Amino acid sequence: MINKQIIWGIFFVLIFASCNNDEKVVFINADESGTNPNVPTQTLKEKAKFKIGAAVKMKDLQDVNYKNAVIKHYSQITGEFEMKMANIWTSSTAYNYTAADYLVNFAKDNSLEVHGHTLVWYRSFPDWFVNAKYDSIAFESKVKVFITDVVGRYKGRVKSWDVVNEVFADGGALREESIIKPIFKDPIGFYGRCFQYAKAADPDAKLFYNDYNVVLDAGKRSAIKKMVTRFKAKGYPIDGVGDQFHYANDTNKQTMQTGFTDMASTGLLIHISELDIKVNTAKSDSYVFTDAEAQKQSETYKYITSMYEALPQNQKFAITTWGVTDKFTWLTEAWHPKEYPLLLDSEFNKKPAYQGFLSGLK
Ligand code: G3I
Repeated sequence: MINKQIIWGIFFVLIFASCNNDEKVVFINADESGTNPNVPTQTLKEKAKFKIGAAVKMKDLQDVNYKNAVIKHYSQITGEFEMKMANIWTSSTAYNYTAADYLVNFAKDNSLEVHGHTLVWYRSFPDWFVNAKYDSIAFESKVKVFITDVVGRYKGRVKSWDVVNEVFADGGALREESIIKPIFKDPIGFYGRCFQYAKAADPDAKLFYNDYNVVLDAGKRSAIKKMVTRFKAKGYPIDGVGDQFHYANDTNKQTMQTGFTDMASTGLLIHISELDIKVNTAKSDSYVFTDAEAQKQSETYKYITSMYEALPQNQKFAITTWGVTDKFTWLTEAWHPKEYPLLLDSEFNKKPAYQGFLSGLK
């Protein structure tokens, strides 16, 4: 009550003052917390006209500060690994849905959408499945059952899926190390049918192809566009394409823009699906995340969200950051321990990157 009286008091003083001289009185709208009115208090999900997603892990959601940050800032979640084939398809006779169910229920309880990641990925076929050395007929019939069972289980609750992830190597050739290549004479046809299986299991789910470096690698992007053209011609139901956007402060922004425009020329939904911006680009053990570095990262995030906002509204789907806080980013193991790629710091405070991301949104 006291706070409101003080605010009303200031209000009347300002009004009274404004009646008594020519000077223009600027009435500062202090937000409820009384913090600096010049720092936007909108959250990402409050401002965005599309979903703002984050990759989350079940074990990290046990941290109440992490859970609260997800609920406060994000409108969609992606399981960082819990909804992948290897984590669900634990044997030829059993699925383990525990972690996937946890994420889907958490999302429902907190009015968040779920993006399913990912049904078919060369790095996530379970060992028992690989060791079975199925021929193409058996391989496909079992993958069809898996997709039907998993997408069917979450029908209406998982609104979109990365059906297929990372099938092209750098430059656009089909990935050599994939289990698929030696089994199928026409791997792209197999991938297209996987989209059909997912569609049959949940006709309302949006179905994506997801890959990395799409906007930077013209050869890979060309291969993706050719696959999309073939899918459309064959009636394989693809709705969108995701570029993971694992980029950096020094990623060439013109190259990014050119590739992004080309990707958007597919006319499909565009998902920035795993966004994080590396700062310690030299992997230096003596790296310091200075204010200047933080500001550069903020400008990179603003560039990316501004670029995404320039899409036609009907091609906007979501921007997903690959993680919530620098504390749990995959990059400290995969890149360097001194890496700070996300929007919230290790104490869940907004970094300049958060403001940059926000300011790029319309
Ligand atoms: O948390 C469990 C732990 O309880 C268990 O004892 C241990 C051993 O099984 O596994 C731990 O889970 C690990 C998980 O990361 C959490 O740390 C998984 O083994 C490990 O495979 C998993 O790695 C994930 C990786 O994909 C493979 O699924 C990373 O978190 C995740 O960031 C990474 O994400 C990929 C995208 O899916 C596709 N694009 C590239 C991106 C980065 O590689």
